[in-house]
Amino acid sequence: MISESFKQDLLSRIDIVELIDTRVPLKKAGANMSACCPFHSEKTPSFTVSPSKQFYHCFGCGAHGNAITFLMEYGGLGYIEALRELADQCGMKLPEMDRTQNAGTASDGPRISDLTELMARAMTWYREQLKRSPKAIEYLKRRGLDGKTAARFGVGYAPEGWQSLQGAFTHYDDPALVECGLVIVNDESRRYDRFRDRIMFPILNARSQVIGFGGRVIDGGEPKYLNSPETPLFEKGRELYGLPQAREALRSQDRIFVVEGYMDVVALAQHGVANVVATLGTATTPIHLTKLLRQVNEIVFCFDGDRAGRKAAWHALEISLAAVPDGKMIRFLFLPPEDDPDTYVRAHGAAGFNEAAAKSMPLSRYLASSLAERHGADSAEGRSALLAEARPLVQSMKAPLLQMQLLRELAALGQMGAEELALAYGLSAPRGAGRPVALRAAEGAAPRGNFAGKPNYSAKSNYPNKSDYPGKPGAGWSRRNDSAAQWRSGTAQRFADQTRPANDRRLERQMLRALLSAPELAADVPVELISEQSPEGLALHALIQFLNDLPQAGSAAIAEHFRDSTHESLLNRAQADLMGLDLGKDGVRAELEGAIFQMRLKAVDAELKAIYALSSLSDEERERERALRTLAAELRTALRNSGGADERGPDGV
Ligand code: UTP
Ligand code: MN
Repeated sequence: MISESFKQDLLSRIDIVELIDTRVPLKKAGANMSACCPFHSEKTPSFTVSPSKQFYHCFGCGAHGNAITFLMEYGGLGYIEALRELADQCGMKLPEMDRTQNAGTASDGPRISDLTELMARAMTWYREQLKRSPKAIEYLKRRGLDGKTAARFGVGYAPEGWQSLQGAFTHYDDPALVECGLVIVNDESRRYDRFRDRIMFPILNARSQVIGFGGRVIDGGEPKYLNSPETPLFEKGRELYGLPQAREALRSQDRIFVVEGYMDVVALAQHGVANVVATLGTATTPIHLTKLLRQVNEIVFCFDGDRAGRKAAWHALEISLAAVPDGKMIRFLFLPPEDDPDTYVRAHGAAGFNEAAAKSMPLSRYLASSLAERHGADSAEGRSALLAEARPLVQSMKAPLLQMQLLRELAALGQMGAEELALAYGLSAPRGAGRPVALRAAEGAAPRGNFAGKPNYSAKSNYPNKSDYPGKPGAGWSRRNDSAAQWRSGTAQRFADQTRPANDRRLERQMLRALLSAPELAADVPVELISEQSPEGLALHALIQFLNDLPQAGSAAIAEHFRDSTHESLLNRAQADLMGLDLGKDGVRAELEGAIFQMRLKAVDAELKAIYALSSLSDEERERERALRTLAAELRTALRNSGGADERGPDGV
């Protein structure tokens, strides 16, 4: 492992602007630098590099990261290789890694590159074998594959025989051959080739390295396709067949077809529909979708016309609903039941296929029509069954506008009002977290500029005594220490469901943004107010903890620390938001304080609401109520003065 401090040291000596500029010439754009994005095709620059944050971000495709990421994505380097290159550039020496200690572990950099080397050698060898096998060539010809396309996809042939790979590898006993899935060891410790007498389709990752193979039988036999097992290189749910080959086409096209089979990809590409990828014998995953939506705005799923194909399509719909942001288009193309994309494009050509694609269904229509078909919309029972099935799907959605639209369509189909349906789906509680994401998102837009540039406010200055903050231990409502036992056994018991942090993901996002911009403010955040349930809250807790340990960490070091963690995407998004806002130090502080004020106010309001719900008050409760009201008023004043008006007013008060 390379230590955190080494990486941080390294990143602090590298200038990302210089690093990128030598590869992608940058122009000055305000405080940042910009260029046309090297990761997707565009005519106006949306690729931005921030010298102060040592970060790049593309507003077009979402490409995002620090110097290390850039070398990996742009230069196709592995993680360790990227570190090594950066270290070389600034005259640092990468700490020697203990090879023996790490041998065989999946996370070890050099080992991974050893495996990809073996896979590349296997591909080359399989391709040579294809040239020598009249039978394999004959098969591919019969299927209409031309030599150019075969070469483009690196199609090869694994000959018959149990240990043919000895012809490619002098050390057939190398455990690495087993590790990368080319060789199998049986119970008697005998080794043999996994792929025998099969047409070989190499599977490449985004850097065009061979990470796996799919092998098709020639004469029938089981299984029809044999795929590489999951290895340190190959994780089916992440990879898409044909993605590197499609990249060229995606420069000029904003849509991609997702099909089921290797042959579908290859045949479509040969006929000129090159913007196509396939899932690898697995169902579509959210990772697949996210990967693709980074590069295009439209995905067209085109599965086989048979029953299995329809099942796969429905699954893709479920995944899509939960993963798709507003502004992206997902469509479904259904071919005649007897066809798959391969046979269809061979029979009708690219023009025929594109014509069919033009008639594909948008996700919303596919959803409504298949529900109606399944349940029937002409009886009350059918309509309610239909709406019941749609419920979890609609609830899972993240795109607020599309969710609204779908609600409308489903409501019409189910013969009820959209508001009624929202209520029935639990998306429309009058206040709080259960409201439709659409409404929540609209509110999310408000605070952005509100705090920017306004005079500083210290959250603490109004409340010199820390323990006066609601939510602080000792403030009563969330006391945890023993001296509060009395309170807990009495009133607090009645407040049980109120004694939790002000759960507001919008505010948490705002705080994340502020901390990324001004990490030194981490110590000011009252962590007990932050939820441990929401993803944003958890990310905040993790970030604050990291900053407590390493107070001098900058944005690039933060990103490095959270690479591949569950918080990565949220932090990236917050970082991306920041690139678009030029807040300045005061603005950032104001944004953070605004968020803290609002969180506190929410906590106070929640407690007040609980008190008001009681039929009679004890003296203690009455006193508490008065104190809280004063606090709420002070907080509102503070908020108003800082520019962040509390538009919503107290909840239920
Ligand atoms: P299909 O059975 O639809 O095959 O499987 P296909 O692509 O049309 O193949 P051809 O035209 O008969 O050659 C679609 C995909 O499902 C996976 C493969 O990825 C295949 O391309 N699959 C299928 C397997 O992994 N194993 C199998 O045994 C069958
Ligand atoms: Mn087929």
